[in-house]
Amino acid sequence: MSSLDNKKQFHAVKVAPQIDNHLVVAGKSYSDYMIEGRAAYIYDSQILQQRVEKLKQKLPVEIDIHYAIKANPMPELVDFLADKVDGFDVASGKELLIAINSGMPVEDISFAGPGKSVHEIEVGVNAGILFNLESETELERIVAASEKFGIEPRVAIRVNPAFELKASGMKMGGGSKQFGIDEEKVPHVIRKMNELGIDPEGFHIFSGSQNLRKDAIIESQIKAVDLAIKLANGGLNFKKINIGGGFGIPYFIGEDELELDEISENLSMLDEKLKTEIKEAKLIVELGRYISGTSGYYICEVLDIKESREEKFVIVNGGIHHHLAATGNFGQVIRKNYPIAVANKMESDTLEKVNIVGPCCTPLDIFAAKVELPSIEIGDHIVIFQSGAYGYSASPHDFLGHGEPRQLFVTGN
Ligand SMILES: Cc1ncc(COP(=O)(O)O)c(C=O)c1O
Repeated sequence: MSSLDNKKQFHAVKVAPQIDNHLVVAGKSYSDYMIEGRAAYIYDSQILQQRVEKLKQKLPVEIDIHYAIKANPMPELVDFLADKVDGFDVASGKELLIAINSGMPVEDISFAGPGKSVHEIEVGVNAGILFNLESETELERIVAASEKFGIEPRVAIRVNPAFELKASGMKMGGGSKQFGIDEEKVPHVIRKMNELGIDPEGFHIFSGSQNLRKDAIIESQIKAVDLAIKLANGGLNFKKINIGGGFGIPYFIGEDELELDEISENLSMLDEKLKTEIKEAKLIVELGRYISGTSGYYICEVLDIKESREEKFVIVNGGIHHHLAATGNFGQVIRKNYPIAVANKMESDTLEKVNIVGPCCTPLDIFAAKVELPSIEIGDHIVIFQSGAYGYSASPHDFLGHGEPRQLFVTGN
């Protein structure tokens, strides 16, 4: 048994609210939301609201803030955000329907992602949303749908820039990529669009995800705006310049909240620069996990505890099939423990080293390796923080047939 020093604590656990040693979600003990025997994702609307307010307060008012639904497409959560952010970005026909049903004006919905089907394109053209064009084939499909329905399509060009977002958890631009149209080919695509009578509405330059280094984000934003100005080539009709986001959240020990002040100053400067070159242009940042990630908790129950050669294994009724990312199998190069605690024993003077594992018969099914937690008993609840993005929807629920977790969007009322 030992006690944990501050440096070894997860940021999310340090700031978590609690009453009587129980985790508090939207003003109530987490246990009020649980059903015995079922793991659950719980999303706290109050945190979600604070998150958007923080962005609005910190970022320049001229900048539009879009939510990337892929981070968490739960309809209640998306509906809640509809009148709080300036737009939604979707990545599939299903997300498109969720966005339209939320009440977000179609002018403020954009659809990015390679491999859009003819059906998805027809739905999008009919709805009047903005396509972020990923290929010339897509352009042909958009034109065909527009002729079929007699509706003018709205198209921006997703650009695969030559530069990369440094220090990013996941790179989505630079070099050879399946995303967007290489910047060198963009002038050709603009000419082709002009011949077809389509005015490009803007550019979408998304270079990466999960970045906690403000200098890397600033650098990529400067490069994205410069690239948009270069590609616009004096054209005045470009209205939407979406420069992505990449704002990260702290998952691992030693990581802290991203500092927004300098990013904000830089965005103000870039907005002025952009407007001197392209008068009508609106600068957009597109964020997923920064908005929804911190609002979500994944909570599961301890089913068994066993020892194997001096190591303790705590087996829970959730795992890789519920929360792939927390097991380190969603793009992480090195597996690290997500922020984790015992939801009904948030603090304790004495701690012990344990492994938290799921019931799936694979060594990949592990939530925490050699983590120091208060002494755990069967029936206790384990909570994984920062689970509001790429959790439920990014996990293989059918794997081994253990069943799905519940999802709850809670307001505390
Ligand atoms: C086009 C696009 N937009 C937005 C996002 C959201 O990124 P994040 O959730 O890290 O903000 C992604 C992530 O992959 C993306 O590909």
